[in-house]
Amino acid sequence: MANILVFDSGMGGLSIYREIRRALPAHDYFYCFDNANFPYGELSEAALITACTRLVSHMVAEHAIDLVVIACSTASTIALPSLRAALTIPVVGVVPAIKPAATLTRNGCIGLLATPGTVSREYTHHLITQFAPGQRVLLKGTTELVIEAEHKLAGRPVNMALLQEVLMDWMEGEARPDTLVLGCTHFPLLNDEIRQLMPGCQLVDSGDAVARRVAHLLATVVGRPSQAVVQARAYCTRLDAEAQKLTAPLQAWGLSSLEEVRY
Ligand code: DGL
Repeated sequence: MANILVFDSGMGGLSIYREIRRALPAHDYFYCFDNANFPYGELSEAALITACTRLVSHMVAEHAIDLVVIACSTASTIALPSLRAALTIPVVGVVPAIKPAATLTRNGCIGLLATPGTVSREYTHHLITQFAPGQRVLLKGTTELVIEAEHKLAGRPVNMALLQEVLMDWMEGEARPDTLVLGCTHFPLLNDEIRQLMPGCQLVDSGDAVARRVAHLLATVVGRPSQAVVQARAYCTRLDAEAQKLTAPLQAWGLSSLEEVRY
């Protein structure tokens, strides 16, 4: 049995946690979100690296973590080298699924929907040149939809007018994308709403690929047999009234308790 830490700024990492836990149910899960520094997509690169490295290192030491999943593209596209230098265990990142999208598109036009941080990163631009050469990749960075995904998870209605406003230029016209990369882990939580506005468009995320990578690392590097009795708990960096309201939705995702990290 392994202790697996899944980390994000907020609720988006649940879309990754869901895939990993479905594939690998017999392990202990720690879902940690840095809501005190949310949204990560608006943080400077230096602030993000510092916040994320300090918190993840603390969680790893405190809970004898065997493997970390940075279930946040905004953090993964910049903080993985620092995290890997600070930790001795495997660290799996989540990056925008440009590679599979490039094989799926029929009209050669891909939309990358991510955070402002992710669309501005050199890492992302490199992914595009490497895996989608000759294709049109349209970039859109939005924090508004990250916040909508948080609202949805907390049981509030999604603002469809806002969603439509953000996606408008991809919904009409000749050169609209036929494939959308959900390059922020919050966006698969809005799958149904995005599908409603962009019917026929293929939505691609990284959940499956990350779960496969974790399974491979557990079998080859961590090498711990699984067990029948498992625990899954959530941790945040600020347990205020807003965060407390997440206790019930998190329980619905199989996370039995929500605590504040003291570090
Ligand atoms: N879920 C995150 C991502 O994948 C970050 C959202 C945010 O905090 O801006 O990029």
